[in-house]
Amino acid sequence: MVPPNLLSDRPPLKLGVMASGNGSNFEAVAEAIAQRQLNAEIKVLIYNNPGAKAATRAERWGVPTVLLNHRDFNSREGLDREIVGTLQQYQVEWVIMAGWMRVVTQVLVDAFPDRMINIHPSLLPSFKGIRAVEQALNAGVKITGCTVHLVDVEVDSGKILLQAAVPILPDDTLETLHARIQVQEHKILPQAIALAAARSH
Ligand code: GRF
Repeated sequence: MVPPNLLSDRPPLKLGVMASGNGSNFEAVAEAIAQRQLNAEIKVLIYNNPGAKAATRAERWGVPTVLLNHRDFNSREGLDREIVGTLQQYQVEWVIMAGWMRVVTQVLVDAFPDRMINIHPSLLPSFKGIRAVEQALNAGVKITGCTVHLVDVEVDSGKILLQAAVPILPDDTLETLHARIQVQEHKILPQAIALAAARSH
């Protein structure tokens, strides 16, 4: 299937990606762009933890990186103001929170209304917040998964764009289950970006 935003002669979407750690979802988006499954360019990666693997991955892809360490700010709003300034400086149109482990404020949401996307490792609205994979394991559910949604100021809320289901197997550990969820995340995140962009036109 040709993704909706490749069907027209639209200019590439200008993405800003925010990540805190490993960055495999950043890489999935970069890969989808390289494979021409998503008509976009990543203008900047913002990360908050020095040494985050996401930054190394971005450098490999030739994407500019900006470290905004939340420990250097005395409020969430202060950090978000700096994030907004950086995203604007790089002329970002769509913001992708790909493993951004900070609560965002109205400052950021208001700067990109309906233009921010988050990926969460559960089938929302189940298991919001941190340790979602662990929450699902502990709850004993048989199916979990991942969700890509628009960002609202309330954590892990906002309009759902795409979801993928992942069965929980009897021998699953946190690691094996999260690994299978991530396989699905890497598929639906680029698809959801294309979908959201197509719908907003
Ligand atoms: C993903 O499981 C995502 O759903 C959650 O944080 C994790 C980030 O993984 N929000 P990675 O850094 O993209 O590998």
